[in-house]
Amino acid sequence: MIDSATAMSPSTCFEVHGARGRFNAAFFSLIGPYLEWSLRTHKRRVFSDLPDDVVELGSGVGANLRYLRPGATLVAIEPNPHMYPRLRAASDRTGVHLELHDRGAERTGLPDNCADSVISSLVLCSVTNPDEVLAEIRRILRPGGTYRFVEHVAAPTGTATRALQRALRRPWAWTFEGCSCERDLESVIRAAGFASVDIEPYRLHTPVVPFNTQIAGTAYA
Ligand SMILES: C[S@@+](CC[C@H](N)C(=O)[O-])C[C@H]1O[C@@H](n2cnc3c(N)ncnc32)[C@H](O)[C@@H]1O
Repeated sequence: MIDSATAMSPSTCFEVHGARGRFNAAFFSLIGPYLEWSLRTHKRRVFSDLPDDVVELGSGVGANLRYLRPGATLVAIEPNPHMYPRLRAASDRTGVHLELHDRGAERTGLPDNCADSVISSLVLCSVTNPDEVLAEIRRILRPGGTYRFVEHVAAPTGTATRALQRALRRPWAWTFEGCSCERDLESVIRAAGFASVDIEPYRLHTPVVPFNTQIAGTAYA
């Protein structure tokens, strides 16, 4: 049982926090329907026609299980154990088989060229080193496989949103376990060496302003 202060999850720089880990599991469960409503257009576009075996980085409480067919298998790479009970319950509800790995996206422990599709939503903001995670995605994807993502990113320099992202960076990162609103993830994904990359930047119109600048797309291995 992981309770007090912090512990280090295996094979990742992710620190398991007792109180904040539980808070985030409850928070993402509670806010899940609103997030889904806000992101559904973009998720439907990039997560359509997923194959029957999918690797997901940072599955959380299972927000993306609904995009897999019943009977499909989700290999979930999730280092926060406080997410697991809700993630398992969501997999039972949706009829998707869950293969849960207590690992970080930096070192998934999966073999080379094993995955047809890797997905993530709202995760590259939280990993310690996005370049390392992108290299890991490329390592595990088969040639022709796809990495599909919906992520929030830094607003353009000089804008009011960017200033707010800067001002709130410390309390935001503390509350959401290392999450940064200041990452230029489009550049990181484009520089990762994929055969081709389609990315659509867009802006949500939610009251959570630092989170509103986002990208969704597909990178082809
Ligand atoms: C903002 S939540 C998003 C959860 C889910 N993907 C969603 O869209 O609701 C970020 C998730 O990334 C996980 N995470 C944080 N660091 C990670 C890492 N290094 N590797 C994999 N997952 C990580 C967190 O535990 C959490 O479940």
